[in-house]
Amino acid sequence: MSKTVIAGNWKMFKTQAETLEFLQGFLGHLNDTPDDREIVLCVPFTALGVLSKNLHGSRVKIGAQNVHWEDSGAYTGEISAPMLVEVGVRYVVIGHSERRQYFGETDQTVNLRLKAAQKHGLIPILCVGETKEQRGAGETESLITLQLKQDLVDIDQSNLVIAYEPIWAIGTGDTCEAKEANRIIGLIRSQLSNPEVPIQYGGSVKPENIDEIMAQPEINGALVGGASLSPEGFARIVNYQ
Ligand code: 13P
Repeated sequence: MSKTVIAGNWKMFKTQAETLEFLQGFLGHLNDTPDDREIVLCVPFTALGVLSKNLHGSRVKIGAQNVHWEDSGAYTGEISAPMLVEVGVRYVVIGHSERRQYFGETDQTVNLRLKAAQKHGLIPILCVGETKEQRGAGETESLITLQLKQDLVDIDQSNLVIAYEPIWAIGTGDTCEAKEANRIIGLIRSQLSNPEVPIQYGGSVKPENIDEIMAQPEINGALVGGASLSPEGFARIVNYQ
């Protein structure tokens, strides 16, 4: 059976002080959270140290939002896997559509980053998904198939999470219908050599829709943007029924 992984992706939000304030509000809500789910916070690099200092004894795992493919080198503005491992990071988001759209990330660089993460024992959360135009043109299935084919070359599927994030549903309030997300996630699973890879849905996940999303048989978790910034809201999401 696939593991369930609920991850918050804070994107470029929260200072260190705001991170501490979030933890003070959030951690107290996890006492009755069932053991069947992994909880991850993928935060800006500057907030990673705050998590590693304040999550001792907690079940919350630390996540980053990117990783370079080299261990070190002249790559201004990048961060390497050994640097993340040193501060206690376990998960790393790779190939988010915002990285692909605004920072020139390609399937080739996504593949290099996935390999580097795995080499150092990090669990990558690989993001795939289509634009509104691609969906309108009936290209969703072929685009996702191509992304997976290129991103997953020589990737170990026993140490991997995939997030299906339709770009038109990100930050728009326009959630993909749970049944449709379930269908695409089933399609993703059919292309994997390991059917137990946890596959998340991401895109306007909220306390109001998490129960329906998690009731879908193919969906093994959620990658949550805006709604993970609120301690109470994200607590309701991780405590989905
Ligand atoms: P929202 O939940 O804000 O739509 O963002 C989704 C996302 O991009 C998570 O990685």
